[in-house]
Amino acid sequence: MKKCIFLSLVLFLGHLSFAQKFEQLAKTPPMGWNSWNKFGCNVSEKLLMEIADAMVSSGMKDAGYEYVVIDDCWQVDRDENGEIVVDKDRFPNGMKYLADYIHSKGLKFGIYSCAGTKTCQGRPGGRGYEFQDARTYARWGVDYLKYDWCNSSTQNPKASYEIMRDALYKAGRPIVFSLCEWGGSKPWEWAKNVGHLWRTTGDIVDRWDAMIGIFDLQKDLAKYAGPGHWNDPDMLEVGNGGMSAEEYKTHFSLWCMLASPLMAGNDLRKMDDATLQILTNKDLIAINQDSLGIQAFCMRDNGDYEIWVKPLNNKEKAVCLLNKGDETKTVEVNLLTLLKANNSYWSTDPYVMKNYVVRDLWEHQNLKLKADEYIIKVTMPPHSVKVYQFIKNQ
Ligand code: GLA
Repeated sequence: MKKCIFLSLVLFLGHLSFAQKFEQLAKTPPMGWNSWNKFGCNVSEKLLMEIADAMVSSGMKDAGYEYVVIDDCWQVDRDENGEIVVDKDRFPNGMKYLADYIHSKGLKFGIYSCAGTKTCQGRPGGRGYEFQDARTYARWGVDYLKYDWCNSSTQNPKASYEIMRDALYKAGRPIVFSLCEWGGSKPWEWAKNVGHLWRTTGDIVDRWDAMIGIFDLQKDLAKYAGPGHWNDPDMLEVGNGGMSAEEYKTHFSLWCMLASPLMAGNDLRKMDDATLQILTNKDLIAINQDSLGIQAFCMRDNGDYEIWVKPLNNKEKAVCLLNKGDETKTVEVNLLTLLKANNSYWSTDPYVMKNYVVRDLWEHQNLKLKADEYIIKVTMPPHSVKVYQFIKNQ
């Protein structure tokens, strides 16, 4: 009897010791690149190595992009021992070689699998192989795992993702765990202790209406995000050709305001200047990466015209004016009201305009305001944003 109690205790403690995620990861929204939006199944070792090179040479790495993630289609089978088999034609030197190369550039390596029996492209999924796959990923040097939800039949999402979380933890290598369940079971309500980020919607498409439709669905989710646990409205489409430069600026600005993961999804080897300027806008990246990790809230919704506010460290604030409409709009904004904009996150400290400068994060300059002038008039083209930061005077 005593032996039995002892054994149960050991088993229970053993379970507890790895029933958790890696806590020290993704303290700010993860930044990187993922193959899916541009390349779909057309992934290879050569592509990934060239993307890693381009991430460094383009200045993306200096701007903060870090993870190079292969999405679906790198895997073709399982061998007789259940080991996942890499597509040898496309990845002739295997995944460890690729991971080593990416690490040698000072970057991190990410991979994709699925909680179901097969991935969304019909490749072998992780169901039933979680602990084995996690050990394999750890051996290869994987730093980030995106885990999809296709072919999951009647599986319970929370339980399924918890198995992989525990498997990763047991394998011992810190790996950012990115849940890709598309929001069906409201992962924001249960995934905080399971993964570091969770998709909140279905897939993005490189079109204005699709992008803004996803953005609209983020409105009530701010309270679920924070350091180590982020809402993920899907990867960026900036530079893929389906939107105008103005629309891509809007897309990028909104993702920065939402404290969303910034996973570029374009061909980094062939970026035009406009794309590079957007993806490496350091002022915007700084608000995305702000250490408080607060997701912007919508303080005004006038239909096509919205105002979003993101509290920042040091009592600073970012404010985004959004013209979703198809017409140019001229709006009047009271900066003092924006500076004082409050939500449940914020204190009742008095805000005094003279303690701040207001910086336009796309013009990269401070507004020239006269003393006691709070109201500004802004003309906004269709589908555009203005992003300002209230920066404390020294
Ligand atoms: C799903 C995911 C996408 C992508 C594809 C790959 O649709 O949501 O982001 O990973 O699968 O097959």
